[in-house]
Amino acid sequence: MQKIRITDTSLRDGHQSLWATRMTTEDMLPILEKMDDVGYHSLEVWGGATFDVCIRFLHEDPWERLRIIRRHIKRTPLQMLLRGQSLVGYTHYPDDVVYRFVDKAAENGIDIFRTFDALNDLRNLASGLKAIKKTGKHAQACVVYTISPVHSAEHFVENAMRLRDMGADSICIKDMAGLLSPYVSYELVSALKEKVGLPIQLHTHYIGGLAVVSVIKAAEAGVDVVDTASVPMAFGSSQPPVETVVRALQGSGHDTGLNLHQLFEVAAYFEDLRQHKGFERGVTKISDMRVFEHQVPGGMISNLISQLEEQKAGNRLEEVLREIPRVREDMGYPPLVTPTSQIIGIQAVLNVLMGERYKLCPGEVKDYLRGYYGQPPAPVSEELRRKIIGDLPVITRRPADELEPRWDKAVAEMQGISDKDEDVLTYVMFPQVALKYFDYRAIVALEGDEFLSNAPELTAQDPGTENARRPVSVPRRKAVPGGEEEEMKIEDIRELIVMLEASSLAEIKVKSNDTEIVLRKSAGGSEAVGGIESAMAAAPRPEEGLVKVSSPMVGTFYASPSPEAPPFVAVGDKVKEGQTLCIVEAMKLMNEIKAECNGEIAEVLAENGQALEYGQVMFIIRPA
Ligand code: CO
Repeated sequence: MQKIRITDTSLRDGHQSLWATRMTTEDMLPILEKMDDVGYHSLEVWGGATFDVCIRFLHEDPWERLRIIRRHIKRTPLQMLLRGQSLVGYTHYPDDVVYRFVDKAAENGIDIFRTFDALNDLRNLASGLKAIKKTGKHAQACVVYTISPVHSAEHFVENAMRLRDMGADSICIKDMAGLLSPYVSYELVSALKEKVGLPIQLHTHYIGGLAVVSVIKAAEAGVDVVDTASVPMAFGSSQPPVETVVRALQGSGHDTGLNLHQLFEVAAYFEDLRQHKGFERGVTKISDMRVFEHQVPGGMISNLISQLEEQKAGNRLEEVLREIPRVREDMGYPPLVTPTSQIIGIQAVLNVLMGERYKLCPGEVKDYLRGYYGQPPAPVSEELRRKIIGDLPVITRRPADELEPRWDKAVAEMQGISDKDEDVLTYVMFPQVALKYFDYRAIVALEGDEFLSNAPELTAQDPGTENARRPVSVPRRKAVPGGEEEEMKIEDIRELIVMLEASSLAEIKVKSNDTEIVLRKSAGGSEAVGGIESAMAAAPRPEEGLVKVSSPMVGTFYASPSPEAPPFVAVGDKVKEGQTLCIVEAMKLMNEIKAECNGEIAEVLAENGQALEYGQVMFIIRPA
C-alpha cells in the first residue's frame, strides 16, 4: 500500500469548471505561499482555457501569470494542461510552433506537462511528447476516458503502453465528463498499473458524485496521484474536494499525509474570494447528472440548451439528446471533449432542426470526416462520408503533416509589435485577440493607471469563451399596432395591409431596419385607403416564380469564405444547384448554404457580417 499524492487543480480546472476561468493573477497572489506549504504533488495552474481567457477577457499576459506564480511557488511542481498538437488553442499547429511553445512554457516555470488528444490519436501527441522530453521536464500523457463499444479497458491500456513507448513519464486517466464509475476505476487503474509500469494519475469530475468513490477505488487499485480542488471550487462540474478525499483516506494505508487544517485555511481564502466576486458554488444540476443516461457531458448540454434557445427550439433538447449517440456512432465514437463535443453536438442539433439527417453539415464536420482532426476511434461510415464530403480527398497521415511551418513568418508579422518569443506564440494561437491585447498593453504602458481605471470592468458574468463568438440577434422588422411594439416577420407589405383592414386599428407604423412607413386606414372603405395605396405603390411587386433562399438558422451572414476573398456570388451571377452561396455562422460553426436550383442571382439581401433571423431571406434566385 502506498501514500496517495494530490494534485490541486483550483488555479486551472477548478475555476475553469465553475467560474468561467475568471480568477485573475491578483486573485491568486495572496494564497500562493500557503498553497506551496501544503505539500501537494503538483499545482495545476496553466493551460486549458486559462491562456485564452487571460488575453481575451482579463487583459492579462498568460506568460506573465506563469512567471508570477513561479516566483511565489518555490517548492511545489507546477503543472499545465496541453491539448496535444492544439497546445492551448483550438486547432492543430505545426511542429515548429509546438516545440517553441513547450520550450517557453518550461522556461517560464512549468514542471509537469499533461497532454491529451480528443480522439486519443497518438500521432497528435507525438511532437508534444518529444518537445517535452527535450526540455527534461515531466511528460504526462492522457488516455481520454469515454464509454463506447470500442473503448474497453484493454483499449486504454494498449494506448497507455504505446504512450509509454513514446516517452511518457506517467499516464493520466482523463475523465472530463465524470463518466468513470467506481468499479471501472478500480479495474482500469489495476490494469494500467499491471501492464504499463508507470505512475498513474486520475483526473475526474465530480458531476453526480461518483468522483469521490472512484478516487477511493483507484487508491485501492494502486493509483499514484489524484486530482482534487479546494472545496469552494469543488463539486458540481469541477473536481472532488481535496478535504473529503484527504479525510476519506486518513488512517488507511493510502493516507495522503496532508494537513486538513492547512487545507481549510486555503479554502477559507478561496471562499472569501468567491463571495466577494459573486462566483458560483459547485452544485450538481440534474441536467449535468444526465451524463449517466446519455454520456453527454454537462457543459455540452448547457451549450446545447443555449444553442437551441438561440434557434428558438428550446423544446427540442430531448430529441437532440437522442440524436447525439447516433451521430457519435456515425462518426466513429469520438470521446466528447473539446473540439469533438462541439462537432458532434452541432451536427445533432442540425439533424433535428433540419428534419433530415446530414442535410446541412458545418465545415468542422467535413474537416473531421476528411481526417483533419486525426483518426476516429472506430471507422466512419463510408456511405455517410461520401454523402457529406463527396469526392474530396481524405488525409490518412498525421494532420499536422499537412501544415506549413509557421514560426518564422509569425516572427516577421510581429515585427514592430514585439520580438519576444512568448508574444509571438500568443499571436500564432490567437491572432486577432492577441493583437488587440498587445495594443491594450502598449496603451497601459504609455498612460498607466489612468487608462486602467477607465478600462471596462470584467466580472464573472462576462460571456465565457464558449459564448464569445455568438452572433447577436437583432429584430429585423417591427410592426407597431396601437403604440405597442411587436416584432413580426412580414414578407410583403400587402400582408400588413390585409392585417390592418381586418383590425380595429386606425394605423400601423412599420419599422424595417432604418426605414419607417405609416399605413393609415381612411374612412371611405377598403378602396379608399390613401396611405396604404401609396405604400403599396412604393412597395416593390414581387416577380413571379422567384426562389427565396432563407437562413435555416439564427446566425451571422458571411458573403465570402474569408475576409480577403471575393463573395461567393453577386447579383447577375449564374449559379448551379449545389453551388455555395454564402456561409451562415451559427452555434460557433460555419455552415455553407447551397443553391437548391440552377438559376441567376436576382437579389442579395444580406450584408457581410449581418445578423440573421431564422427564415430571413438572404438571396433571391431567378430559376433557369
Ligand atoms: Co478536467
